[in-house]
Amino acid sequence: MDQKKIKSTITGIYGYVPEYILTNAELEKLVDTTDEWITTRTGIKERRILKGEGKGTSIIGSKCVKGLLEKTNTNPEDIDLIICATVTPDMFFPSTANIIANKVGATNSYSFDISAACSGFLYALTTASQFIESGNHKKIIVVGADKMSSIVDYEDRKNCVLFGDGGGAILLEPSEDENGIIDYLLKSDGSGAPHLCIKAGGSKYPASKKTLINKEHFIHQEGPKVFKFAVTNMANISQEIMVKNNLKSDDIAFLVPHQANKRIIDATANKMGISKEKILMNIQKYGNTTAGTIPLCLWDFEKKIKKGDNLILSSFGGGFTWGSIYLKWSYNS
Ligand code: ACO
Repeated sequence: MDQKKIKSTITGIYGYVPEYILTNAELEKLVDTTDEWITTRTGIKERRILKGEGKGTSIIGSKCVKGLLEKTNTNPEDIDLIICATVTPDMFFPSTANIIANKVGATNSYSFDISAACSGFLYALTTASQFIESGNHKKIIVVGADKMSSIVDYEDRKNCVLFGDGGGAILLEPSEDENGIIDYLLKSDGSGAPHLCIKAGGSKYPASKKTLINKEHFIHQEGPKVFKFAVTNMANISQEIMVKNNLKSDDIAFLVPHQANKRIIDATANKMGISKEKILMNIQKYGNTTAGTIPLCLWDFEKKIKKGDNLILSSFGGGFTWGSIYLKWSYNS
């Protein structure tokens, strides 16, 4: 019997950002920087910060998932699996996905985290997609969320201007038509680790007085080195997935890029031959929310995206990790 391959598709999206807005003007008071430098070098104007002691990424993630369940009229008990992409888990273990599942009442779901920095959401979405395609799972939630303010040193001007807190969640189900996730390309290169990492707090250098004094629990990023790698690889992989799927720039409705730096996004769009209006960008409002940027972007622009639209999702992040997903959007909102 000729069995049709099951395809997965996004059937709902919801995002959340904390209320507190950290503007460039406020950062000017904290470190030696200017609105002009931040805007021209990165495109960022403001970012959101989750304030309050004892509040971790699961707060952001569970708000996204609760909103998504309500919006899509889904019973939490019908969820088979929750995957959370994050580099700022509430704690090393249990996984943040576990904590989110408990918070939202997803009692029949199992759950796990994926760590791939800014490419985390694309890795998680690709993973979830395989579970749907296997035929064994009907409803999966993929969350991309990060509380970057928990690992940013607000005395380090090179990093504190870049990051913010926020996230988004999508519901993934079997597709009922030709729309859905069509293809993906994911890559990683561990030789990039020293250039973008958190040096201590793991098994290699557990937390100690020395690691605290040396500020080794904050993000360490060699900006220009990462920039060169990011600009080349995000642009190349986005073009590669177009060629692989015989897509011309006119065929693409929107590029949904990871929001780390406007200059990296522009270079990617340029390489793909995509015009400005087709780039979905909200970096100016939220900065880099790591695993949160792509679902947050889809959420922000959901009304603009129409059923059948060809989207390219692209990312680059710590690891190094990078990737692209080609999908056809499944619904009008
Ligand atoms: N305000 C004012 N001046 C600054 C600031 C600031 N906030 N930060 C750095 N500078 C200074 C530097 O000290 C330097 O001065 P110098 O020339 O006197 O030494 C000058 O500005 C230029 O600094 P660069 O670091 O060379 O600036 P660059 O143009 O490379 O921009 C940035 C820095 C924005 C970090 C860029 O390199 C970048 O976007 N890198 C890639 C980030 C990325 O994509 N990361 C991956 C995802 S993150 C993740 O996975 C967790």
